[in-house]
Amino acid sequence: MIIALDGPAGSGKSTVAKLVATRLGFAYLDTGAMYRSVAWRALEEGLELNPPLPDESIQAMRRIAADEPITFGYLPGRATPSQVFINGREVTTQIRTPATDVAVSPVSAEPGVRAALTEQQRVIGHAGDTVMEGRDIGTVVFPDAELKVFLTATAEERAHRRYQQNVEKARSAGQDYNGLDEDAILADIQRRDTADSTRAAAPLVAAADSVLLDTTELTIDEVVERIIALAAARREPLQTTAARREPAEEQRP
Ligand code: DC
Repeated sequence: MIIALDGPAGSGKSTVAKLVATRLGFAYLDTGAMYRSVAWRALEEGLELNPPLPDESIQAMRRIAADEPITFGYLPGRATPSQVFINGREVTTQIRTPATDVAVSPVSAEPGVRAALTEQQRVIGHAGDTVMEGRDIGTVVFPDAELKVFLTATAEERAHRRYQQNVEKARSAGQDYNGLDEDAILADIQRRDTADSTRAAAPLVAAADSVLLDTTELTIDEVVERIIALAAARREPLQTTAARREPAEEQRP
């Protein structure tokens, strides 16, 4: 079973997707981390990323996406991956910097990059039950996913959550968090909302058959419980059919 979880930046997708995957014993795939890894390599290569992108940048990012495999690492005791590697190099923290936040928009708008990463995502999803989160999972990567959920929340609420997450991260690393600026986070979220939903290739839109969940007023646990209930309801008809078939088969000579 594929559970496709799409939505804008800061909608709580990652937190929710990891919890749902852990509860159901499904694999978890963060497709945003894949686009971020290619963006990080584009920065490392010093590619020109301002529009209009030169041909050289386009060819180089396509080559990175097609030739440099992205893999995930598990830390002991964790059911979902904690590390990201591109071509065997760990980039877990590097792909979360503000520079990568900016570079990922032009990189993820490039159709050649999307085609290469979509292919990798389908291979991973076909390996077994998976919760896959991103922007285009229900529309492009797995249009036949058994369950599609589109998470939303107001931009202000998403910025507030991101800000609190960053404060927590800085605090637990013993760093100063007074300089963190919620307005700057909101501006970045609004910039990415516009870039993600107006690009020509696989724009961020809810699939027509997705369940829309506005999480503005919901806790993480409430969102997780709703998705688990939806997944159980989607699975039930399959199990009922199988259960009905069994006695008939037993009666065969
Ligand atoms: O989920 P995230 O914020 O880490 O994703 C980073 C960027 O990658 C996001 O701004 C848009 C892009 N992305 C995408 O285009 N398609 C996906 N399936 C996942 C992410």
